[in-house]
Amino acid sequence: MMGKAGLLLLMLWGCTVCGSQTSMQRSPPGTLDFGFVPSGVYETHAYFEPGPIGILFHLVHTFLHVVQPNPFPQDLITKVAQQKLREVKQEYKKPENIVLTLQAIYYEIGFIVCASLGVLFVLFMPLVGLCFCMCRCCDNCGGEMHQRQKKNADCRRGCFVTLLFLTSLIISAGVLCAYSANQNLSTQLKGVRKLGNSNFRDLKTFVNDTPAQIEYLANQYNTAKNKVISDLDNIGPLLGSRIHAQLGKEVLPALDGVLGLAGAMRETKEALENVSVSLEVLQEATDSLQVNLINEQARLSNTLNDPACSSPGVSTTCSDIRRTLSQLSINANFSTLPNVDTELANVKNVLKTDLSNIVQKGYSTFNDTPGLVKNQTTNIVSGIKSILDDIGSNITSFSKQIPVQDILANVTLYLSQSQSYVEDYYPVIDKYDFYRWMGCIVVCCMVALILTFNFLGLLCGTCGYDKHASPTTRGFISNTGGNLLMAGVGFSFLFSWVLMLIVMIAFVVGGNVEKLVCEPFGNRALFRVLDTPYLINPYWKNFLPGFLYQNPEIDLTFEKLYSNCKENKGIYTALQLDNIFNISNYLDTSIYTKDVVDVFEFVNVNLSDMVLLDAKAKQNLLNFTNTGIVSINYDAYLAEINKGVTKVDLLSFANNLEAQADKLPKGALENALKGHASSIRFIHGQQVVPLEQAMSTLNQSIRFLQRTTSDLPNKVNNVISAIDAAQNLITNNASLIITLETKKYMEVMIGYFKQYLNWVKNSMMMEVAACKPVANIVDTVEIVTCSFVVDSLNTFWFGLGCCTVFLIPSIIISVKLAKFFRRMDSEDVYDDIETIPMKTMEIGNNGYHNEHLHGIQNPVMTSIPSYDTMTRFPRASAPPRQAEWGD
Ligand SMILES: *[C@@H]1O[C@H](CO)[C@@H](O)[C@H](O)[C@H]1NC(C)=O
Ligand SMILES: *[C@@H]1O[C@H](CO)[C@@H](O)[C@H](O)[C@H]1NC(C)=O
Ligand SMILES: *[C@@H]1O[C@H](CO)[C@@H](O)[C@H](O)[C@H]1NC(C)=O
Ligand SMILES: *[C@@H]1O[C@H](CO)[C@@H](O)[C@H](O)[C@H]1NC(C)=O
Ligand SMILES: *[C@@H]1O[C@H](CO)[C@@H](O)[C@H](O)[C@H]1NC(C)=O
Ligand SMILES: *[C@@H]1O[C@H](CO)[C@@H](O)[C@H](O)[C@H]1NC(C)=O
Ligand SMILES: *[C@@H]1O[C@H](CO)[C@@H](O)[C@H](O)[C@H]1NC(C)=O
Repeated sequence: MMGKAGLLLLMLWGCTVCGSQTSMQRSPPGTLDFGFVPSGVYETHAYFEPGPIGILFHLVHTFLHVVQPNPFPQDLITKVAQQKLREVKQEYKKPENIVLTLQAIYYEIGFIVCASLGVLFVLFMPLVGLCFCMCRCCDNCGGEMHQRQKKNADCRRGCFVTLLFLTSLIISAGVLCAYSANQNLSTQLKGVRKLGNSNFRDLKTFVNDTPAQIEYLANQYNTAKNKVISDLDNIGPLLGSRIHAQLGKEVLPALDGVLGLAGAMRETKEALENVSVSLEVLQEATDSLQVNLINEQARLSNTLNDPACSSPGVSTTCSDIRRTLSQLSINANFSTLPNVDTELANVKNVLKTDLSNIVQKGYSTFNDTPGLVKNQTTNIVSGIKSILDDIGSNITSFSKQIPVQDILANVTLYLSQSQSYVEDYYPVIDKYDFYRWMGCIVVCCMVALILTFNFLGLLCGTCGYDKHASPTTRGFISNTGGNLLMAGVGFSFLFSWVLMLIVMIAFVVGGNVEKLVCEPFGNRALFRVLDTPYLINPYWKNFLPGFLYQNPEIDLTFEKLYSNCKENKGIYTALQLDNIFNISNYLDTSIYTKDVVDVFEFVNVNLSDMVLLDAKAKQNLLNFTNTGIVSINYDAYLAEINKGVTKVDLLSFANNLEAQADKLPKGALENALKGHASSIRFIHGQQVVPLEQAMSTLNQSIRFLQRTTSDLPNKVNNVISAIDAAQNLITNNASLIITLETKKYMEVMIGYFKQYLNWVKNSMMMEVAACKPVANIVDTVEIVTCSFVVDSLNTFWFGLGCCTVFLIPSIIISVKLAKFFRRMDSEDVYDDIETIPMKTMEIGNNGYHNEHLHGIQNPVMTSIPSYDTMTRFPRASAPPRQAEWGD
């Protein structure tokens, strides 16, 4: 249980969250928010819940459906209505009338049958009562105070008591039903005043809020206007940057190319400097390295001329070393390479013009397009602003022109008058309702009186019952019970036809109203009858527009009006006011934006003054290609660089020498050779390592220059032609782009107007003067008529009718039962059963029965075979014929 509740809560919460999330969703940019039209709060809830008595209402509806199951006879009603109208014009035809009457009779047959039964009841009940009374007075019809005793008397008595009790209970239920219907109607009618007042309040809200709503619509023009103004103030960023972006697709890459070249120039200069410096270093260093290596060669040669070298075993080593001597020499010879001083000087000369700066200026000129646009459109912006003010004042004056104030003043006056008129009627309603209530109470009291007699009679009869008493010896209480029952019977005869008359009239009226008004209102068939073309006015197709606008062709029906108002749409939609006052004509966007469009025609942004790169800068680029860097023989440089500093690696040469020395016997030679090895290592460390570094720098720079200068003239030409194209675009094609972008910009602005006008239109249709109160009035009338009055009336006759019908069994049973309660004047005498002695009781002083008894021969003595069934309980003094109402 808890789990389910929790789940439910979770789902509810989930829904709420989803809902709020969807409502939080941001509207797309450029969507204006006009807020909510202030709307009055209508307080009437035209909805009725009958409560427990609804069960009775339902019962009655079911009964009515049984009596009259036919569907609503829309065609018949329409024809009858048309016939009636023609009758007024005296042109009706008889046969058609008869057909209609027959159809009506067929439709009403259930009512007619029931009503006929009622009429029979009303006519015959008094007659029967009269006859019965007279019959009893003549001692017939059970009027004789004699009871034949039968074997099953006790059983019959008990049976009658039970039946009468049940019948009385049913009658009680009926009278309670009638009473509660009566009470319900009085209670509900007390609420009518409240309902009426709340309807009037809603109508006043409806009327009073409308001007404020129209004013709100007019004022919201400012939202659109402010948005347009803010866009106009930002025309630079908005329009300018769009133009900038469009042009930038070509302009920016061109400028980037120039900027790249400018960087390349600077780096070229740097690389040339590196080349120049490192070449000088290398030339000097290789020269001195060569000198040192030659010297070392000579010294090593001297050492090898040592006599120790000629001794066997050593001589081979010495000769090995001697063979490698020539390897001690430089490899790369930089002295033949040309220097790059002229090229460097040329490049430096070119670099005197600060190309980067010029390019930056080009960038900033181009990036200032928004500013340029803003400056060139100031007059247009101010022009549009003044147009906006014009439109604003037009809208305000237009909204003032709508003659709402006058109409509303009249309507308000009319409303107040109607309200006071209606309020005058409340006391009258109260007064008549009181009479009605009293009348119904009296009617209920009639039934209650009969019931009282019945119940008291039953009570007394049952309490006073004495098992041993014979009919002539019954006690006083029992006798009183019998008399009370007979009194009830008397009153039943007196009242029943009156009750049935009331029931019949109420039934015919209430039942038909329920069937012909309330039910068809529920399924709107009533509106369809009203909306039948040419019904109310034979010259008008639709009555409502004919009446309101003198134009019966408009498709405005009561049903549509009611449905639209029920959905709380605006009165403009509900009454299709566009037929007399078509706001669409006033809300055409072009009316308002024509002038704006005209002004935008004159937008003329001129970018022809924009210069991306001047001629000097272009010449500068061309000069760069002519600095000679293109024709430097880079391969010669690279060939030398790749050669390496020395012919052999000096370190391995030294290591090798040392290894050879180790092979020799220890001595001076070995030491001398080791000394040479270390001096070669020294040369390597001191001279070769720095040389290698310088060569690496040269390598880098030369390779950079080679890369930069390869295809340089083409690159420069491409950049220059790109710049020319961009410049051409700005000078010649920009106006096209500007026109296109201006149009887009303008359309955004016109979009604001469109949004505003659409919003106004929608608000007028859906929210301004939401006409729920109109539907509420109809619903209120329906509730009062059907739910309050007709349902109560129907329940009343239903209850009362039930009572009245059950009065018949009540009468019969009461009469029969009274015989068992009342003290009889005489009783049966038995002869064939000894235990019941024949006995003659004389009661009272009238002597009537006495005489009677003596005057008739005892039939027991002459037992007649034809009284076959009576042989065991022959009648002593019963009348010869048995009346219907007899024992
Ligand atoms: C020039 O030499 C310096 C120092 O060796 C080095 O950092 C720089 O990258 C070189 N420039 C070029 C363009 O090779
Ligand atoms: C380098 O080349 C120059 C010019 O050809 C020449 O005079 C010089 O001897 C060479 N140096 C060496 C070590 O070969
Ligand atoms: C405003 O109204 C006047 C007169 O009705 C009209 O001449 C003018 O064109 C309107 N202005 C705009 C912007 O609609
Ligand atoms: C308002 O009522 C007055 C008098 O009843 C009438 O002269 C006037 O025309 C009405 N105004 C409107 C807008 O119906
Ligand atoms: C109202 O005007 C709009 C546009 O001018 C038109 O489409 C519409 O049919 C008109 N409505 C009526 C009822 O005349
Ligand atoms: C010169 O530079 C290139 C690439 O940077 C490299 O592959 C080459 O080994 C270098 N040569 C020398 C001798 O450093
Ligand atoms: C510039 O305009 C010419 C002719 O008006 C057209 O052929 C060309 O494509 C345009 N260029 C650009 C980049 O729009």
